[in-house]
Amino acid sequence: MLAAAFVIAAAVGYTTASPFTSSVAPLDLFARSLSSGCSTTGPVSCHNTSAVSDLCCFEAPGGLLLQTQFWDTNPSTGPSNSWTIHGLWPDNCDQTYQSNCDPSRAYTDISSLLTANGASDTLAYMQTYWVDINGQNEQFWAHEWAAHGTCMSTLRTTCLPSGSAQGAEAVAFFQTVVRLFKTLPTYTWLANAGILPSSTATYTLSALTSALTSASGGFTPALDCQSGSLNAISWYFNLKGSVIDGVFVPISAPKAGTCPSSGIKYPLKSGTPVPTTTTATTTPTPTGTPGALPTKATIKALQSSGSLLGGLLSLGTWSTQTLATYTISGDSSSFTMSSSKGNCGVSGGVFSCGSGVSLTSFSAIASGSDLLLASGGSTAFSSDGVPSGTTVYTVYTGSGHAQDYNLVIVGA
Ligand SMILES: *[C@@H]1O[C@H](CO)[C@@H](O)[C@H](O)[C@H]1NC(C)=O
Repeated sequence: MLAAAFVIAAAVGYTTASPFTSSVAPLDLFARSLSSGCSTTGPVSCHNTSAVSDLCCFEAPGGLLLQTQFWDTNPSTGPSNSWTIHGLWPDNCDQTYQSNCDPSRAYTDISSLLTANGASDTLAYMQTYWVDINGQNEQFWAHEWAAHGTCMSTLRTTCLPSGSAQGAEAVAFFQTVVRLFKTLPTYTWLANAGILPSSTATYTLSALTSALTSASGGFTPALDCQSGSLNAISWYFNLKGSVIDGVFVPISAPKAGTCPSSGIKYPLKSGTPVPTTTTATTTPTPTGTPGALPTKATIKALQSSGSLLGGLLSLGTWSTQTLATYTISGDSSSFTMSSSKGNCGVSGGVFSCGSGVSLTSFSAIASGSDLLLASGGSTAFSSDGVPSGTTVYTVYTGSGHAQDYNLVIVGA
C-alpha cells in the first residue's frame, strides 16, 4: 500500500508541474536554466580595441579561458578511455590571473545546488568525468567554482536575470564547463591518430600536438607532463558574450606546456571505459534550443561586424556569387553535408566539398535566431580575404586567418 501511495503522489506531483513546463522543450529544461540576454556578435574577449563597459556580456579581465583536463593514472581517475575535467579558468589576457574573487559566493554542496536547479544531468556527467584524484569530488567542485568561477565577470550575481535562485550562476558555470568539455574529446582525438595509452610506447610532443591540432580544427593545446608522463592539457579560448551561453572561440595556447619534446609516456588507466561516441558526438548547443535543422540549406557568412556577406558555393568556398544548396542529414548535434559537387568535410583545417572529400560531422549551434555551423564544436571560420565579384576564398576552420566569420545555416 505504501508503494502504491507513493506512486500516486509522484504522479500527482508530475501533473501539477506540467503546466509550468509544457511550453518548454524537455531538452531545454535540463540543458540550461539561465539565459544571459547577451549578444554573441560583439567583440571577442581580449580582442577589444577600446574599453567595453558591460562586463556582464564581455568577460574581463579574465578573457583568456582555459578548459583544463587531467590524465590521472596514479591513482587512475575516471574512465580508462577519457580524459577528465579539471576546470575552466579565466586568465587575464596577458596570462596572469586572479583567483578566489568572491568568498561570499564560495558555495558548498554543489551536488544539492545542481539538483535543486534542475541540473541533475550535469551532476551525473560530472560524477563520471569531473572527478577528484582522491575521491573528494565535492571539495574539488567547490574549489574550482570558488577559485576560478567567482572571478568571471559575466557570472556576477548582478548580471543574472532578476529572481534567479541563489547560486544560479554557479550552476551555469558547471553546465558551461561540461558543455565545453564535451566538444574537446582529447582521448578520442589522440586515439584517432593512433596515439593510445601504453605501458611501453613513448611519443614525441610534435606527434601529440599535431594530432590534437588537426583534430580540433587548427588549435594547439598546451600539454603538461609529470615525470615524463602526459598528465594534463589546456585548451584555450576567447569568448563572445557571457560564460552562461556565449560562444567559445578556440585559439592556440599562447605558451607551451611542461612536456619534453620526446620520450613522453601516456600511461594506461585502469578505469572502466565509456562508449567513446558519447564523448565525441554529444555537443550541446551554447545558446537556447536551435530551430529545426533544415535538410536543404544555403550557408551564409556572418561577419564579426554582424553583417551577412555572401556564403558558400558548391565546392565549399566563400563567395558573393549565387550560393549553393547543401543537403543536410542528421540532427543538430551531429550531421553531414553534401553539395552538387559531392560530400563535404574538413581536412587539415580546410572546409571543402567534392567527389574525393570524406564526410566529416558538423553540429549546429543556435546564436540568437541564427543557426551556426560548427566544426569540432567551434563556430569560428576564417579566410585570407573578403570575396567580391568572381573572387572566392578558401574556408578554414577556426579564426587563424585574416577574415573571421560564422557560417549561418539558412533553410532553402
Ligand atoms: C577591453 O575592455 C576591458 C574592459 O572594459 C578594458 O579593461 C581593456 O582595457 C580593454 N582593452 C582595450 C585594448 O581597450
